[in-house]
Amino acid sequence: MSQTPLLSLRNLRTMFTGENGEVVAVDNVSFDVNAGEIVGVVGESGSGKSVTALSIMGLLPKTGARISGGEILFRGRDLLKLSSREMRGLRGREIGMIFQEPMSSLNPVFPIGDQIVETIIAHERIGHRAASARAADLLNRVGISSPARRMLDYPHQLSGGMRQRVMIAIALACSPKLLLADEPTTALDVTIQAQLLDLLRDIQDETGMAIVLITHNMGVIAECADRVVVMYAGRVAEEAPVDRIFDAPNHPYTVGLLGSTPDITRDERRLWTIPGSLPRIEAPPSGCRFAPRCQLAIADCERGQPQAVQIGAAHWAACLRTQDASSLGRKT
Ligand SMILES: Nc1ncnc2c1ncn2[C@@H]1O[C@H](COP(=O)(O)OP(=O)(O)OP(=O)(O)O)[C@@H](O)[C@H]1O
Ligand SMILES: [Mg+2]
Repeated sequence: MSQTPLLSLRNLRTMFTGENGEVVAVDNVSFDVNAGEIVGVVGESGSGKSVTALSIMGLLPKTGARISGGEILFRGRDLLKLSSREMRGLRGREIGMIFQEPMSSLNPVFPIGDQIVETIIAHERIGHRAASARAADLLNRVGISSPARRMLDYPHQLSGGMRQRVMIAIALACSPKLLLADEPTTALDVTIQAQLLDLLRDIQDETGMAIVLITHNMGVIAECADRVVVMYAGRVAEEAPVDRIFDAPNHPYTVGLLGSTPDITRDERRLWTIPGSLPRIEAPPSGCRFAPRCQLAIADCERGQPQAVQIGAAHWAACLRTQDASSLGRKT
């Protein structure tokens, strides 16, 4: 495929100022998203998924955070070179985002209808009446019945699932070309989760919008993603088409993540959590960040950051021991 990607992250590096100086939250992250594709981003809590999305949106905290390197190419333009005014024009209209915390991103003191209408009016030359009609349509589309009445509700009057649907409606209000969906279903029960994922997929099918689907749930990835980026401690550990991630993982961390997912194809549920935890962001290991938890680690793994090795078509893993990891992956 030689098409220009819709989004291309090139060596993105995002830092925060901590008590004892700067820490790196996203370190040299590169991946592409093509038009119409669903790219899953997975990894444990703290691996840098949300910070990556907020970096793309230009929505990092105004103080104490900065992007210190790399490029974020969207339709060929580096978003890091745009003014904040240009970014405001792009946000919502070309790139939509569903935030991880729906309650904190809906304004509690305004009815939800007003919040959707505001989003539409901010981006398009369209009157209030037409924007209201579009908002009602959108609510209908995301499965909210009696939308005209619901538009008068305040966020606290809605259930968690409903609020998440409203967030999806807002993100879709201006038909963005790219949707960043940060754990869009995590807080919800399984049935609602499945409904919302179906909804996202339907909308993606209809509109051809690309989606970056952030989750720590491999089941969600298996259901929805075309391609997968596995993040660990701020870096990309492995990237591959979704079937390759499940059938032939080549990074010991991916193998571990898969082991942590209940395997619905078997009678007994395998639940193998990876021993240990993410390194502290203030004191990351100097070599491979997964080495301290990796059952395949050798002395070389601690010497330097492993470079991404190409394993197959569109498949890379940043590991010195991909050969052995792939056989680990096949072991049950
Ligand atoms: N505003 C902030 N100030 C300082 N550090 C931050 C800030 N936001 C995130 N971090 C740090 O950046 C790292 C990556 O966080 P991030 O929120 O991207 O993780 P995540 O992969 O989204 O995790 P989760 O699955 O829990 O949502 C973490 O170590 C986190 O503590
Ligand atoms: Mg997050």
